[in-house]
Amino acid sequence: MSDTKIIAVIGATGAQGGGLVRAILADPQQRFAVRAVTRKPDSDKARALAATGAEVVAGDADDAASLERAFAGAHGAFLVTNFWEHFSPERERQQAAAMARATKAAGVAHAVWSTLEDTRLAFPLDDARLKTLQGKYKVPHFDAKGEADAIFAAEAAPTSYLMAAFYWENFIYFGQGPRKSADGNVVLALPLGGGKLPGIAAEDIGRCAYGIFQRGPEVAGQRFGLAGDVLSGPEYAAAFSRHLGVPVSFYDMPFDDYRALGFPGADDMGNMYEHHAILGEEFRRHRSPAVSRALNPALQPFDVWLGANASRIPLG
Ligand SMILES: NC(=O)c1ccc[n+]([C@@H]2O[C@H](COP(=O)([O-])OP(=O)(O)OC[C@H]3O[C@@H](n4cnc5c(N)ncnc54)[C@H](OP(=O)(O)O)[C@@H]3O)[C@@H](O)[C@H]2O)c1
Repeated sequence: MSDTKIIAVIGATGAQGGGLVRAILADPQQRFAVRAVTRKPDSDKARALAATGAEVVAGDADDAASLERAFAGAHGAFLVTNFWEHFSPERERQQAAAMARATKAAGVAHAVWSTLEDTRLAFPLDDARLKTLQGKYKVPHFDAKGEADAIFAAEAAPTSYLMAAFYWENFIYFGQGPRKSADGNVVLALPLGGGKLPGIAAEDIGRCAYGIFQRGPEVAGQRFGLAGDVLSGPEYAAAFSRHLGVPVSFYDMPFDDYRALGFPGADDMGNMYEHHAILGEEFRRHRSPAVSRALNPALQPFDVWLGANASRIPLG
């Protein structure tokens, strides 16, 4: 049997975990083997991973025993939750807790938990600067992840904490990119409150996670805030103008207008943008291109990512 150290990857069929799987398999030194954990080992995505050399096993964050089986014998484990599948911070926290405890029960040496800030540490519920949502959250998809950090610190294998930034793929898939308005002008509308938005190519998150695994359990307890670039709205618009070949202007949408857009999670996302804008540099210093590049020398700045992806931006 091979004695190559195994990294078990939750979310292997998704953006963050998928990037990590590809980074591990692409390592010319083949320092680790990869075990992709999925609820659906028979899915096309899971079969595609197996075809590229990943071991594929069943595991479900809602089923603690399945996680222990999936992590058995692994050196490392990458843990990510998908809030947007169910929109429940309580369920997300439970899934995180199950993953944390399973890393310890399975004897994993190094876990990497993809977390985000608990925004209530900076904005307690009685802080009127940010609306309270669901009675006990400020930014639900951040808060439950951040709350789970304490469970990782107390009940998991030695854990490093990864905090991703806004994926630039949101400009392609989630209607957050530039749009042609009724008068024919192309406008990038985001609620940035005059501030800057750290962003990253989704593929680079997994590559940075691989950099953390290469550093090893020595960096347990450390937090790695990732970004490929930190740009203002007008700077994003200028890059779109260069790469799309049409003038793109920036509209700094009021936060209340964004929360009122009505799509599921609009209030959560609106609060997220307002949280970033109010904290400003205090938030941005936790998303560092320098830290990210040290983990992943191939880190893409926005201009490079957009150069490769401009044809995929739907101007709608
Ligand atoms: N979009 C952004 O800008 C952004 C920025 C920072 C952080 N985030 C966070 O990123 C997270 C999502 O990560 P992603 O973008 O990598 O996800 P994704 O591409 O949407 O894919 C979701 C992954 O999660 C796995 N998964 C979902 N529920 C599971 C469960 N119960 N048990 C095991 N695996 C499960 C899925 O695996 P199977 O279906 O194969 O089981 C799939 O691989 C969200 O929580 C979000 O808050 C997003």
